[in-house]
Amino acid sequence: MSEGTENQRDSVSGRSGAESAGSPIIALRDVHLTLTSNAGPVDILKGIDLDVDAGSALGLIGPSGSGKSTLLMVMAGLETVSGGAVTVAGHDLTKMDEDDLARFRSGNVGIVFQSFHLIPTMTALENVAVPLEFMGDANPFAKAREHLDRVGLSHRLEHYPGQLSGGEQQRVAIARALSAGAKLILADEPTGNLDQATGAQIIDLLFDLQRDANVTLVLVTHEPALAERCNVVAAMKDGRIDDLRASAGMAPELSDILSDAKRH
Ligand SMILES: Nc1ncnc2c1ncn2[C@@H]1O[C@H](COP(=O)(O)OP(=O)(O)O)[C@@H](O)[C@H]1O
Ligand SMILES: [Mg+2]
Repeated sequence: MSEGTENQRDSVSGRSGAESAGSPIIALRDVHLTLTSNAGPVDILKGIDLDVDAGSALGLIGPSGSGKSTLLMVMAGLETVSGGAVTVAGHDLTKMDEDDLARFRSGNVGIVFQSFHLIPTMTALENVAVPLEFMGDANPFAKAREHLDRVGLSHRLEHYPGQLSGGEQQRVAIARALSAGAKLILADEPTGNLDQATGAQIIDLLFDLQRDANVTLVLVTHEPALAERCNVVAAMKDGRIDDLRASAGMAPELSDILSDAKRH
């Protein structure tokens, strides 16, 4: 990636100055995604440029159908783009085959969906430990215990998903992501199936991880108030990023940089 010619985009990412301090953990350049349906090709992503700084939180908002989930899948290497460049944690995802991508995901990316994708016949502990075992971890159960403890679930290790509340299941999913070494969490409306109080706890947990464990968080949400807790908010509309700005709590200089970038 040629940093020297990317000043405008550097500004959009929220980094100050032309000589960027560190590279972004996610860099998308003119990303297009076209799917073929019965009615012909459908353009779903129409030229996305976006940088996400390591350790930051990006809120992704926009109406239903605007492409938020698709964009998250692109970041996870679960959706192949039709054009453009996708670099995540130093990997050029467009050059990787399915096996490479699976390996990349298991070590780098935690995906937290609205539904929890836990295995119903395994306990909370097994749901976290078994994937680690598959990855060749030497101490999968000890590591799983440690991460379940971190999300406040040490008293639920032997419970099956059906015996856990929605919030607890979501915590298991987060522990599973973190235990695999994810430094990037992609969360797609993670509170959609939870009551408000439980949802708030999950969101607090995600932001705690972002702040304290240097995890980068990309959070798709319908709720502007949640997006405002992120460093940067990107609003999608019809397959494009319609608006990109520092959230209200950000330093004023950063807001200025972002609004300058938008005028270009
Ligand atoms: N597999 C697919 N085939 C065709 N169109 C799709 C497919 N997946 C998503 N879409 C379309 O892509 C658009 C964006 O979808 P999505 O990323 O799920 O939006 P959002 O998460 O913002 O609601 C929608 O118009 C949706 O209908
Ligand atoms: Mg969606």
